[in-house]
Amino acid sequence: MSVSIKSSQEIELMREAGRILATVHQELGKNIRPGMSTMDIDRLGEEMIRSYGCIPSFKNYCGYPASICVSVNDEVVHGIPSEKRLIQEGDIVSLDAGVIYKGYHSDAARTVAVGEISEKAKLLIERTRQSFFEGMKKAVAGNHLHDISAAIGDYAESFGYGVVRDLCGHGIGNHLHEDPEIPNFRQWRRGIKLRPGMTLAVEPMINLGTSEVEWMDDEWTVVTEDGAPSAHYENTILITEGKPEILSLTEEEKAAGYLDLF
Ligand code: MF3
Ligand code: CO
Repeated sequence: MSVSIKSSQEIELMREAGRILATVHQELGKNIRPGMSTMDIDRLGEEMIRSYGCIPSFKNYCGYPASICVSVNDEVVHGIPSEKRLIQEGDIVSLDAGVIYKGYHSDAARTVAVGEISEKAKLLIERTRQSFFEGMKKAVAGNHLHDISAAIGDYAESFGYGVVRDLCGHGIGNHLHEDPEIPNFRQWRRGIKLRPGMTLAVEPMINLGTSEVEWMDDEWTVVTEDGAPSAHYENTILITEGKPEILSLTEEEKAAGYLDLF
């Protein structure tokens, strides 16, 4: 297993990829309305990605047919957009997107509320996001990879949530998926030592009920086994000597105090 260290030129390109992806998420999130199909969301997202001079990295990745993974309620990740699937008031919708800018990838996900949602769902979304930032508290050069995993998992499990074990975060750079794999729960071994210049996609997937998931017949859509809702939060980050740099946050999110969450 080899984990690459990015040069300062590469990091600059990953910063730009992250900035663009953050903007795409911000605009997509603002445009979600009841009555839209999940395909409408995909079209909007793909158009935006291309308008910023990027390539949607998910399209045709291992045969995945769309640019944006749209996963509703009990769908955890990798939902396939469909003209027939209409989103409704009260739904929670996980949007996962990836872009390639001048050969460099960024990958990020947000779960958004459609209109008024239940208090339980609201908390699930907030705490899934915070589990990512708990991981960020440990994402410092000199620490070990699984310090991040343990911080995410312990925080989420403290609320009784199910932490998805069958899917992981990953290294990212010239490729969407690079080494290392990044589990979202406590590991027996400590994992590799974190070094400045590593770029990682950290992505907790947290369920309101059981941690168990299954794959639908489309061979992509991952759903919770018990049908309870699930949330997803992902950013592409850069390891430094100090606090990690979170490459796929918007200025708006930074202004809202997200940099103080870790
Ligand atoms: N964020 C997801 C991941 O890292 C992206 C799904 S990739 C897909 O695995 F293209 F296959 F959908
Ligand atoms: Co990812």
